[in-house]
Amino acid sequence: MNKIVIILSLGVCCLDASTTQNVHITHEWGYPNLEESEEFQNWGGDCDNGRQQSPIDINFNKVLKGIYPKLIFNGYNSIAGCNIVNNGHSIQLSSFPQEMEISGGPLLASYIVEQIHFHWWSEHTLNNTRYPFEMHVVHRNKKYGNMTQAMKFKNGITVLGILYHYSNVGNPSIENVGKALNDSGLFNLINDPRKMNRLVSMKELIPQKIDSYITYEGSLTTPLCSEIVQWIIPLTTFPVRMNEILPFRKIENDDGKVITNNFREIQKTRNRPLIEISENIVSSSTKNDGLVSSPLTFFVLVCFVIPCL
Ligand SMILES: *[C@@H]1O[C@H](CO)[C@@H](O)[C@H](O)[C@H]1NC(C)=O
Ligand SMILES: *[C@@H]1O[C@H](CO)[C@@H](O)[C@H](O)[C@H]1NC(C)=O
Ligand SMILES: *[C@@H]1O[C@H](CO)[C@@H](O)[C@H](O)[C@H]1NC(C)=O
Repeated sequence: MNKIVIILSLGVCCLDASTTQNVHITHEWGYPNLEESEEFQNWGGDCDNGRQQSPIDINFNKVLKGIYPKLIFNGYNSIAGCNIVNNGHSIQLSSFPQEMEISGGPLLASYIVEQIHFHWWSEHTLNNTRYPFEMHVVHRNKKYGNMTQAMKFKNGITVLGILYHYSNVGNPSIENVGKALNDSGLFNLINDPRKMNRLVSMKELIPQKIDSYITYEGSLTTPLCSEIVQWIIPLTTFPVRMNEILPFRKIENDDGKVITNNFREIQKTRNRPLIEISENIVSSSTKNDGLVSSPLTFFVLVCFVIPCL
């Protein structure tokens, strides 16, 4: 029954989001177990025939320097209480307690977070280096009412891709997502969402200070690989402990096989510009924190507090 529903809904997606005629493609797509030397599959449609596919290698010899307005983040706070699901391809979070909105930078509109999911072994590589973990924060252009609608338009989606490197410094929020998997026994429960009751904060998932990022036009990295994504990849990679991502590597797919890795192969960049922006990105919350040490506070301290001593 579940399977029928999935196939039907994918069929609807195909009709909506793809210009190709082949709608029979992607109902049983997956990732090869690279530890058993399996090969990457062809997923069909735009995944095979597209010209602006993702992920790509970010080769710093080929990036162009750009200048954009600052990126602005609003509402990227705690997301405890959201839904968590094993969708058979990844672990996905959705139904967030508040709206999270990004604007500025290369974006010509405001985008709100629709879902967050994870890839073990990163999909994007930097100078051909693959990182252990990548988080995709999938945003929908606010002017389109829902994902189906947004996926019809070139400016429909922006994805923030955060790369993590191994470190002795842990990431409590990633650790807690892993614990939530264990709490609910989600390892082999496919498409059965649960409430996440662990503390998870966007402030711990996304670097607080993003000095530089790469932006380029690409696609979703899962079928139907629609070419509707403005990618934003901060160049500050973020620490995670090796044991914090072990629970992710234990989840199973529809066939009961462990998803040891869930990254797509690197796609051709072709002649797409990769633009590097270097600047300080200010989020509304760090702006507020900043007030604490502003010249005004200093003035108040010097002029009113110190004379009292
Ligand atoms: C990538 O390589 C270039 C030189 O080719 C270097 O300047 C840059 O720092 C490297 N970046 C990363 C993230 O490794
Ligand atoms: C998405 O939005 C479109 C246009 O507003 C609407 O026709 C459609 O029913 C919506 N789909 C869902 C699943 O809500
Ligand atoms: C996972 O859950 C089991 C009980 O269901 C518990 O014994 C074990 O310690 C948990 N593991 C982690 C890493 O939280």
